[in-house]
Amino acid sequence: MTTIRIVGTGSCLPKQVVTNDDLAKIMDTSDEWISSRTGIRERHLVINETTAEMSAEAAEQALLEAGMKAEELDLIILGTVSGDHVTPSTACEVQSKIGAVNAVAFDINAACSGFMFAMNTAYAYIQSGIYQNALIIGAETLSKIMDWTDRSTCVLFGDGAGAAVVKADETGLIRFVQNSDGAKGMVLACQNRLNNNPLVENSKDLHYVDMDGQEVYKFAVSTVPASINQVLEEAGLAVSDIKYFLLHQANMRIIQSVAKRLKADPDKFPTTLEHYANTSAASVPILLDEVNKKGMLQKGDKLVLAGFGGGLTWSAAVLEW
Ligand code: UT7
Repeated sequence: MTTIRIVGTGSCLPKQVVTNDDLAKIMDTSDEWISSRTGIRERHLVINETTAEMSAEAAEQALLEAGMKAEELDLIILGTVSGDHVTPSTACEVQSKIGAVNAVAFDINAACSGFMFAMNTAYAYIQSGIYQNALIIGAETLSKIMDWTDRSTCVLFGDGAGAAVVKADETGLIRFVQNSDGAKGMVLACQNRLNNNPLVENSKDLHYVDMDGQEVYKFAVSTVPASINQVLEEAGLAVSDIKYFLLHQANMRIIQSVAKRLKADPDKFPTTLEHYANTSAASVPILLDEVNKKGMLQKGDKLVLAGFGGGLTWSAAVLEW
């Protein structure tokens, strides 16, 4: 049966690096607090770069590795909660920047699961024969939707973009699971702009990310191992069959807890969060690109990808490289 195979990856981080010590100069925090609770030591934050520019750079790298021209793309799906415009979508901006004149492009809002949901959506289109290939992207400039007076949240996030090109093939994505639980959505929320029509009286400014960190932590450490176990069981595979688990990079303690619950070797969980912090939808494809560019993947390796976050949303996938 037709599935999708990843044939190219790419990533882009903004130039400016901001360390925990840098943050400690502008707010009441410390490297000790941030690194001991999260594993994060620094993050990249945009100054002039945009979500679309970083996405286009990541996309060009992925196309290069895939040996494809942008005009050959059928589909562009981009996961983000921090696009540059409400409209056009960031995916349409990327289409224009890279010259993917024959593609259809749209964004997906599944927060930190955005890249996973983009991949699963591309699978559905390609598996059904509607399209033959897709560019899937996760990209964020979260720094513009952070409340920089809320030290419990703003220190956790960073900006960046990651991309992959997928093509119809006989092997590749083996199985995925995806879920959402809207009833718990407000534990990680960011209000859109307030309605300023003349009939509405606005009282509270909620334009920034508002997170109940402990609730998100509890959600992550229970749903992520459960969804990975489910996808492995449905694929007829065991934890020991998997070379790497590429998890959404939110918190080192979450990743260690998942490894423990799966009874998996922690060395099978590569990380980038020390340097990039939590880049939401971008974290899984940035990590995938790093692992790929370091030459850590051989044809036939089995990988698990997993994302979780706002919505609430979560997804796990097992694939053959
Ligand atoms: O993509 C998903 C994104 N979300 C997440 O990954 C969040 C998951 N949750 C977490 O990672 C953890 O809950 C946090 C790292 C956010 C927080 O860790 P915690 O151990 O749950 O800390 P806490 O919220 O219980 O706060 C402990 C103390 C508080 O002080 P008091 O009330 O005990 O005096 C906070 O005010 O730490 C204080 N605090 C800070 N201190 C220094 C909160 N943020 C900071 C900070 N620097 N940046």
